[in-house]
Amino acid sequence: MTIQVFRTVRELRQWRRSLPFEDSLGFVPTMGALHDGHISLVSKCLEENDHTVVSIFVNPSQFAPNEDLNSYPRTFPQDLERLQEIMVNGHGVDAIFAPTVPEMYPSGITLQVEEQKGAFVSVLGLSEQLEGKTRPNFFRGVATVVTKLFNAVGCDKAYFGQKDIQQTVVLKRMVRDLLMPVEIVVLPIVREDSGLAMSSRNTYLSAGLRSKSSDIYLALNKGKEQYHKGGDRDSILKAVLDTLTDDSFQVDYVSLADPVELQEVVGSVDKTTGAILSIAVYVKEDGRTTRLIDNVILQ
Ligand code: PAF
Repeated sequence: MTIQVFRTVRELRQWRRSLPFEDSLGFVPTMGALHDGHISLVSKCLEENDHTVVSIFVNPSQFAPNEDLNSYPRTFPQDLERLQEIMVNGHGVDAIFAPTVPEMYPSGITLQVEEQKGAFVSVLGLSEQLEGKTRPNFFRGVATVVTKLFNAVGCDKAYFGQKDIQQTVVLKRMVRDLLMPVEIVVLPIVREDSGLAMSSRNTYLSAGLRSKSSDIYLALNKGKEQYHKGGDRDSILKAVLDTLTDDSFQVDYVSLADPVELQEVVGSVDKTTGAILSIAVYVKEDGRTTRLIDNVILQ
């Protein structure tokens, strides 16, 4: 299966215009280093749409100056090979959009937010808590690049993983508030056999730590058990924290929040709305620290 690779918005739009008007176009935005989680999004996209575009772009504006923009895994040849192998109902990915940084940021981009120039998108009220506390400009970077990608691709539906659950809440609000004609589809977390949520950053971990990090999912499940036993916020969070006692782990946050406004639950979970039990953990070995996130939905 030959996939067209477009590096410029102009080429991508030209191809988009050549598609029959009534055909549906699905889109899977990624930063590459594709794993089975991404593949599940692409497969669903192929199943639900006449055409599929996957983007591969490591977006500078969602990285802080102290984060891993330079070392983030870039594996384009392997990504292309994996995408070429996926076929659903006899059709595969039509196009990859893999632009350069200047193509996506015509006004330039620096990681120093105070020095940035040009247009950016912020989703206020949902970007400051949870991930936003440790990564204050992360969702501004995500909302900005996803807006640009939607403008470039012209998709009907876009596919995201539940692992980055706050990202999905932010993007659903963005398309609603900015009247974007795109449906956001969220698919379940794909896990390694151990239970660890798949992430491109898992490649930073040794085999031993990777296997130990499955305790993060175990901890969330302990919290979920408490919820099903009728436990309140305190007992749910305690069950999670009591499971993560190993010295390799430093918990950044554990949160029990409502699924729409991402406000922390006080007392007991309202069963009609449910809640998101989410966590961020620094896992450490040999002087290297990797931050992992995971979540489960309580309903
Ligand atoms: O989830 C990701 O990989 C990224 O945040 C996204 C949505 C591709 C934007 O850069």
